[in-house]
Amino acid sequence: MTATTVRGLLAEARATLTGDEAWGEAELLLAHALDRDRAWLVAHRDDAVAPALAGQFHCCLSRRVAGEPVAYIVGHRGFHALDFVLTPDVLIPRPETELLVDAVLQRIPQSAKVDIADLGTGSGVIALAIAHARTQARVLATDASAAALDVARGNARRLGIDNIDFAQGDWCAALGQRRFDGIVSNPPYIAEFDPHLAQGDLRFEPRSALASGLDGLDAIRTIVRSAPAHLQPGGWLLLEHGFDQGAAVRGLLQRSGLADVFTARDLEGRERVSGAVARNAAT
Ligand SMILES: C[S@@+](CC[C@H](N)C(=O)[O-])C[C@H]1O[C@@H](n2cnc3c(N)ncnc32)[C@H](O)[C@@H]1O
Repeated sequence: MTATTVRGLLAEARATLTGDEAWGEAELLLAHALDRDRAWLVAHRDDAVAPALAGQFHCCLSRRVAGEPVAYIVGHRGFHALDFVLTPDVLIPRPETELLVDAVLQRIPQSAKVDIADLGTGSGVIALAIAHARTQARVLATDASAAALDVARGNARRLGIDNIDFAQGDWCAALGQRRFDGIVSNPPYIAEFDPHLAQGDLRFEPRSALASGLDGLDAIRTIVRSAPAHLQPGGWLLLEHGFDQGAAVRGLLQRSGLADVFTARDLEGRERVSGAVARNAAT
């Protein structure tokens, strides 16, 4: 690699990286190496880049060529208009999970003083996006992984969000005896032997954040079985799941005794979020 300007380094990177995202990835990696944002790159295409910084960029590029996800190389990712620090201890937040957050926010009036639990919080994206958008809500973010909870706690501190608590434990066991107005989760839902787990970015993400039993539904089965005992009357449970798991998840929700079972679709029309409501005591 011989380029010495922003423009030249981007051109080299785009020629090196493959895939539909090559253009954006080249900019993200160069912005990271130069400690600038992408807007700065646009305004400084002809600036010279110091050899030491160009060296750092080439190092990032080599890691990407070796398959490492961009989000782990640059160490952060945007989600629901907030920026989250990420490490390989946590799942890289997916755009489709914003659908789950939007479905939750639709159920919480702006100034409602509600208690919400986010099971399997990872980097904290769901819990923190809710806590940020609904400042009167109190959110309990749980995970089995202590390392993931450290990342989530760090994100809460950095974002200055304090209407949130953290608890370590296995799904609803982390909730103790408490009941909530809403429980949300994006649990692992890929089948254990799905070949995608050995491909692309998934190779670098924690297996415990991705896979869950032979059909991918073990975690969802556990959550749906135990969550009703932790819901207030009228409280809701909302779950993200695979695009082909909607019918199975609706079946589990129906058999759990919850009411008003529904599924929401993403912009491509795929079933990605299902939920249900705890019956009121009188019904
Ligand atoms: C698909 S990731 C979701 C992370 C984050 N909520 C998001 O949407 O980006 C699933 C999370 O569940 C956690 N997890 C896996 N097994 C668990 C268990 N038995 N109890 C609680 N959390 C668990 C993983 O550590 C991981 O952080």
